[in-house]
Amino acid sequence: MSATGVSKALTVPDIAARKAKTPLVCLTAYTTPVARLVDGHCDVVLVGDSVGMVLHGMPSTLGVTLEMMILHGKAVRRGLQSALMVVDMPFGSYEESPAQAFRNAALVMSETGAAAVKLEGGESVAETIRFLTARGIPVMGHVGLTPQAVNAFGGYRTQGQGEDAERILRDATAVAEAGAFAVVLEKIPEALARLITEQVAIPTIGIGASPACDGQILVVDDMVGLFGTFRPRFVKRYAELGSDAEAAIAAYAKDVRERRFPALEHVFSHEPGPVSGGEAL
Ligand code: KIV
Repeated sequence: MSATGVSKALTVPDIAARKAKTPLVCLTAYTTPVARLVDGHCDVVLVGDSVGMVLHGMPSTLGVTLEMMILHGKAVRRGLQSALMVVDMPFGSYEESPAQAFRNAALVMSETGAAAVKLEGGESVAETIRFLTARGIPVMGHVGLTPQAVNAFGGYRTQGQGEDAERILRDATAVAEAGAFAVVLEKIPEALARLITEQVAIPTIGIGASPACDGQILVVDDMVGLFGTFRPRFVKRYAELGSDAEAAIAAYAKDVRERRFPALEHVFSHEPGPVSGGEAL
């Protein structure tokens, strides 16, 4: 907040400058009301392609489209004042070529007002990250467990175990050297996340990674207990809104069936008022 009480919006350079400083607080949002809730508390708000699973009931993120990301991105934009907004590029929208990635990322940014996009992958997308950043599109990287590669991984397994650690380190380094301003490290061993954080020049944002990361991110619906399908160990539940909501819905259903709702305070008395067509309004 500034002295005038008006929030100053965080920029990509502000986030990049947070390497080895106060940890970056990051959450997902997919809708305007949730964006309004998280804005005052977060440095970065990610419109994640997890929206496909969390809000649309998809079995993975693979079916998420550019149109969905743009629709949710626009909704989140309306709810943010100070946090930096990043939108995920969905599966199939950037892997073909740097030119395809530029065309689609430019569309996402112009349509949603996002400050940056996020791409999954390491060495394999480094050329694309270099191409985008050279053309004014800030990129957040994402290495380790990259959910769009779930079929290649054979499930949502921890990545970078044993000798595979080298691969993840190379991926994070490639993303940083290609010009990404920050990189998400997902579901990798703690010691590896710590090592990557020490070695790369950009902020690392952990999810199932390490407290040593330069920031942390969670799916907001996971941490408030609204998404029950998956319960990964790396999610700390700060609320149980799902079970609270279900209890409220059950109470409403009982009240309706037993004619306790609506009560008199929820209905309108018949008072003579302005007359329209012979009937009191
Ligand atoms: O899609 C998403 O929500 C993400 C975060 C979990 C990092 O990529």
